[in-house]
Amino acid sequence: MKVTVVGAGNVGATCADVLAYKEVCNEVVLVDIKDGLSEGKSLDIFQKAPINLYDTKTIGSTNDYTKTKDSDVVVITSGLPRKPGMSRDDLIGTNAKIVKSVTENIIKHSPNSIIIIVSNPLDVMTYQAHLTSNFDRNRVMGMAGILDTARFRAFISDELNVSPKDIQALLLGGHGDTMVPLPRYTTVSGIPISELIEEDKLNEIIERTKFGGGELVKLMGTSAWYAPGAAAAQMVESIIRDQKRIFPVCIKLEGEYNIDDCYLGVPVVLGSKGIEKVIELKLNSDERELLEESRNHVKEVMSVLENL
Ligand code: NAI
Ligand code: 2OP
Repeated sequence: MKVTVVGAGNVGATCADVLAYKEVCNEVVLVDIKDGLSEGKSLDIFQKAPINLYDTKTIGSTNDYTKTKDSDVVVITSGLPRKPGMSRDDLIGTNAKIVKSVTENIIKHSPNSIIIIVSNPLDVMTYQAHLTSNFDRNRVMGMAGILDTARFRAFISDELNVSPKDIQALLLGGHGDTMVPLPRYTTVSGIPISELIEEDKLNEIIERTKFGGGELVKLMGTSAWYAPGAAAAQMVESIIRDQKRIFPVCIKLEGEYNIDDCYLGVPVVLGSKGIEKVIELKLNSDERELLEESRNHVKEVMSVLENL
């Protein structure tokens, strides 16, 4: 199996490293426009193989897409990350052009691939890749929900002083401040979260999660990469190994949740065909209202893209 990761920056290189280390595929191709960057990082990951004991091949390519030929899965991370004071939406002009040209190159050489978008603004870049590739919606998706729920789960584990492994959570909506964490679907080893954390404290954690990306941008001057890279790799693994795991993933909704023609995160089953099923939850009125707000926000940014 072959995976291409476009963008050898912070997120892309981390994703390639996790894929190699976990031997998710036989070959990882890392592509970037910066001369030598992807070759250098691929070589570095390969030189770690005798230490960490894996035999995945890692290949770098400066903008030569022939090396990506017949990839099974492609992860697109190319584009600007945000800087302090910027929202994800501020990146749209530059990143839409990048995602469009990268997608054109990818589909030329890997017409049967499954595309995972990471570049921001996530939901609308997924829309861009869908417009450009014309692939069925099950083969074009965005990574954000795994990252956002991981942040929520990490904060809960910290609050309760228990292992993050035992925390299950779900989240809907766009990748932004309007994301919709779902405390009703959050458990700790099967125990509803409401039995373990007071409502006020839980609301604080939810707020911190919503602005979790911004918290890191403030600390580091650029956006996060370890958790985002690992999250994208987890989606690749579920597809390559046909694990049929359930994750919140950004997809074009076509009537699910009473929403049409909008790209939002919802729980799906991820397997060898890409998104194999969209899971519809029975939301209460508060949750529906929040999802509607998130939809309206993403729709606004989608229309900015349409008018570029
Ligand atoms: P980075 O700046 O470290 O890496 C981006 C790389 O893309 C650079 O190496 C750059 O040379 C490359 N690039 C630019 N144009 C290209 C092109 N046309 N073809 C190939 N490569 C190209 O940025 P980082 O931190 O890796 O973030 C990447 C993107 O992912 C950003 O848009 C960021 O906002 C987004 N992101 C999304 C997350 C999510 O949850 N969906 C989480 C974290 C970051
Ligand atoms: C994050 O949430 C910036 O989308 C990126 O870390």
